[in-house]
Amino acid sequence: MKICCIGAGYVGGPTMAMIAKKCPDHQITVVDINQARIDAWNSSELPVYEPGLDEIVQSCRGRNLFFSTDVDQAIREAKIIFVSVNTPTKSYGVGAGRAADLRYLELCARRIAETANGDKIVVEKSTLPVRTAESLKRVLHANSKGHHFEILSNPEFLAEGTAVTDLENPDRVLIGGDDTPGGHAAVAALSEIYASWVPRERILTTNLWSSELTKLVSNALLAQRISSVNSISALCEATGADIDEVTNAAGKDSRIGPRFLKASVGFGGSCFQKDILNLVYLCGHYGLDAVADYWESVVRINDWQKDRFVHRMIQTMFNTVAGKRIALLGFAFKKDTNDTRESAAIRVTTALIAEQAEVVIYDPKVTEAEMLRDLNNAPIRVARDAYEALNGAHALAILTEWDEFRSLDYRRIYESMKKPAFIFDGRNILDHAALRALGFEVHAIGKTSAKTL
Ligand code: UDX
Ligand code: UDX
Repeated sequence: MKICCIGAGYVGGPTMAMIAKKCPDHQITVVDINQARIDAWNSSELPVYEPGLDEIVQSCRGRNLFFSTDVDQAIREAKIIFVSVNTPTKSYGVGAGRAADLRYLELCARRIAETANGDKIVVEKSTLPVRTAESLKRVLHANSKGHHFEILSNPEFLAEGTAVTDLENPDRVLIGGDDTPGGHAAVAALSEIYASWVPRERILTTNLWSSELTKLVSNALLAQRISSVNSISALCEATGADIDEVTNAAGKDSRIGPRFLKASVGFGGSCFQKDILNLVYLCGHYGLDAVADYWESVVRINDWQKDRFVHRMIQTMFNTVAGKRIALLGFAFKKDTNDTRESAAIRVTTALIAEQAEVVIYDPKVTEAEMLRDLNNAPIRVARDAYEALNGAHALAILTEWDEFRSLDYRRIYESMKKPAFIFDGRNILDHAALRALGFEVHAIGKTSAKTL
């Protein structure tokens, strides 16, 4: 069978690569309107960094996995069409700052309807507001030229940095479809593809709306855990409790569980904030203002946490960072990815620059061009490694939990920094006692700061 995916991004690319690997009998073509992105997928420098992805793409590309900008041909040939285009938060008009911008999706639907030369199964992979499938259906059917389209919702739960393992061994695959014979047949066809490697009991089928809502709710619940912990981190700093001790002990309760309880400078990524704001918009639309307000507070706490981190830096460094060299280690929104969307580092850097700090950034995977784009060309310096960034610096702030930051030569770093040498660990990944023994003044999230004076 021929499968096509529109949108060769962080979701579309890795997901299709995994299907190609697991289903050698199917031919998969990933298309995108962005020629540079497709060229990158066809080169040795993939546009998405994910551990294990290179190997899969290399073994399948040219065999049953193809990347192309010929959207129409891929639509014509495919029986199943995944739609994985971006659905950013709307930046204009009604719902600006909250609602999802569905224009790319609608354009895709119109293109599919115009181009299709037979019946198709159209699968929503993009995260969407509930009931988007209904709009898709109407656009497709109104322009259908007699062909039949079945719409499925098949949200992706992969996390960046672990995309390959998440895809290979998912907790669940969710497929929503219409409760009609055509809907059942389409759900069965898609289930069959996943069943090539996912145990049947992990393939859940629901109605369309439940599937769409589950995606938003899953992300909202995960983000809510982080904001809950981050809110308590402030209380820990004020009272002398230690957030890592608190979450470790609380997480031992099997009803709570240990994951997603790590305090941080704030969550980022393309999904959490966007999906919560989407949920907020949806609740508002249905007049559920108290529910909307409840979920919006998860985003408010997250912004507050990022601002709080910067305020603590400034306050600690004698209430001024003007003219001081501050080295930021990490710019990606989490480790093992080159993605910076909604990264806490963007807000932190912007605030430090507004305070006239001299910011030097090092990230193992994020390019200087990307940083400048994210920061609207703000005056930063980008270092080639952590040591270069820290040479002569007044302070070091960890913004991303890259493993390599744990094992730097901190004695060498201490010697190269101005004194007192401040460390602000925004991810709680360093050995604070050892650093204090070297002479650093360490401040960490959710921990009181023992001064070494
Ligand atoms: C995106 C959304 O952010 C996420 O919510 C959703 O679940 C899946 O799609 P991601 O893959 O990370 O996730 O987005 P991105 O990396 O921006 O990729 C989307 C791609 O679609 C881009 O390469 C873009 O060029 C392409 N696109 C967009 C099209 O090919 N056609 C369009 O009309 C619009
Ligand atoms: C998330 C969901 O996990 C995934 O299921 C969905 O498909 C897309 O959105 P992703 O954004 O790639 O995935 O990363 P995730 O690992 O969830 O981390 C999101 C943010 O939360 C990161 O900035 C991360 O550093 C932060 N985080 C995560 C914490 O601050 N503390 C934690 O305990 C966990």
